[in-house]
Amino acid sequence: MLILGIESSCDETALALVRLSSDLSSEILAEEVLSQTEIHIEYGGVVPELASREHLKNFPLMYESVFRKSNLSPEEIDLLAVTVGPGLKGCLLIGLGFAQGLAKAIAKPLVGVHHIEGHVLSPFLFDKSLPFPFLALVVSGGHTEIIKVISPGNYQLISRTIDDAAGEAFDKSANLLGFSYPGGPQLAALADTVTSSEFKLPEIMPTERDFSFSGLKTAILLLVKANPEFSKDEMLKAQLCWTIQKSIVDNLLGKMKKAVRDTGIKNLVLTGGVSANKLLRKEFSEIAGCRAWFGDFRHCIDNAAMIALAGGIRKMHNLPDYGIKTVFSRQPLAEYGSS
Ligand code: KG4
Ligand code: ZN
Repeated sequence: MLILGIESSCDETALALVRLSSDLSSEILAEEVLSQTEIHIEYGGVVPELASREHLKNFPLMYESVFRKSNLSPEEIDLLAVTVGPGLKGCLLIGLGFAQGLAKAIAKPLVGVHHIEGHVLSPFLFDKSLPFPFLALVVSGGHTEIIKVISPGNYQLISRTIDDAAGEAFDKSANLLGFSYPGGPQLAALADTVTSSEFKLPEIMPTERDFSFSGLKTAILLLVKANPEFSKDEMLKAQLCWTIQKSIVDNLLGKMKKAVRDTGIKNLVLTGGVSANKLLRKEFSEIAGCRAWFGDFRHCIDNAAMIALAGGIRKMHNLPDYGIKTVFSRQPLAEYGSS
């Protein structure tokens, strides 16, 4: 089955052509991802209106490009798969409008995909041997969720954040330390230059079911304000970064270990932009008695190959899709469309 995946839920415009077989093996034939980070830097976060305009501008150009690169023609597509949520509604509508017009023009079926389903299934793009059931930790600028993946289309939400996402916790902390948006990777890079810190943050409760980063955010704010010398002392700043990074990672790991204990599942997937964090990757892969699966980084962040894959798997298994009549901004995967 040849699938064109279309993704525009936040500030990445992406298109991908993916060939999927019934044994879940897949091949990415061509793909394009355009990140808009540079455009949003000066505003300190994603401006939805600007993001929508960029998607509108990018899709036709990327469409030409993926077909040129793959030497395929639009008539050869079997299925179109588009992200319909969760995400920024204006951005999602640009992708959906583009997909609807195209599906009509080439008379091909179109399915609506849940963005998080794309993330949790993304490791299959590179390794079809990942066994069900598994636990997926999805950590990005907009999401922090642990999902039990029982089989394709059958999900159970184990934990989610009740306030900020892990990426936001990194970015907001980085902002307090004077890093430009998105500061998470810069904070992490400086943290990795030291191996310990004299600073302490209160321990977060790993036994609670859901994630919460708001208490941590306040504690970080107080810690940064109490140590203004960091702006002139790079070593001190690195130590602050180390403490903040450790605290966010401990928070994520604590919940993941609890999920392993509660479910007995030992196959673990880490995905989303924050999975680039080296400390998180290391500690995640060392959870006792478990095996960790990571996609390649390009496909941990937002991309359209994972959307093509998720849409294709739903079609192959005759599972209902998420609809193509509208978009949604928030809706946990497990509460929506699970069989
Ligand atoms: O999945 P993603 O690329 O995009 C969206 O959320 O849309 O995730 C981006 C998030 C940002 O918050 C960024 O700061 C964070 O991932 N991030 C990191 C690292 N690399 C990216 N956070 C901590 N450490 C990193 N190395
Ligand atoms: Zn995402």
